[in-house]
Amino acid sequence: MSLAVCPGSFDPITLGHLDVVRRARGVFDEVVLAVAHNPAKAYLFDLEQRVELARGALDGLDVRVDVVDGLLADYCREVGAVAIVKGLRGGADYDSEQPMALMNRHLSDVETMFLVGDGALAHIASSLVKDIASHGGDVSDLVPPAVARALHDAFPHPGAQR
Ligand code: PNS
Repeated sequence: MSLAVCPGSFDPITLGHLDVVRRARGVFDEVVLAVAHNPAKAYLFDLEQRVELARGALDGLDVRVDVVDGLLADYCREVGAVAIVKGLRGGADYDSEQPMALMNRHLSDVETMFLVGDGALAHIASSLVKDIASHGGDVSDLVPPAVARALHDAFPHPGAQR
C-alpha cells in the first residue's frame, strides 16, 4: 500500500486543493490530507473549522483528513507515508516548495512529489479567496459550497449572495 500525504494550512480548502488531492488519489493507494497547526500563524478559520470544511469537501473521495501537530517530516514517518504530494500552480510555487521538500527529506528521508493541477484552477489561492470574500466578492466558483458559506459568515456583507 502506498500512502501519500497532502499537507497544508487549508485556510480554507479550495477547488484547487481538491483537484490536487483527487489527482494524488489516482496515483496512490491511500491519501491523507494533513491540516497543519501552527500556533504562531494567524488563521481565519481555526483548526477544527479547517478540518471540518476539508472533511465536507472530500466527502466520497476516499481521502482521510488528519491534523499534523508538529513537524510534517515526523508525521510522515509515523504514518508510513512514501511521499508528500504538493500541487504546483507555477514557478513561484516551486521556488517556495523546493526548500521545504529538501528539508523534509533531510529530516526524515521522505520524498516530495509535485503534481501539476488543472490549469483552469491555477489562479486559485486561499489568500486570494479570503481577500475577495472580505470585500464581499463572489467566491462560489473558487471553493466548495460549504466553504463559500463559511466565508460569507466570516465576512458578512449586506446584500452579498450566500
Ligand atoms: O498551505 P501552506 O501554509 O503553504 O502549507 C505549509 C505547510 C503546512 C505544508 C508547512 O508549513 C508545514 O509543513 N508545516 C508543518 C511544520 C513543519 O514541518 N515545518 C517544517 C517544514 S520544512
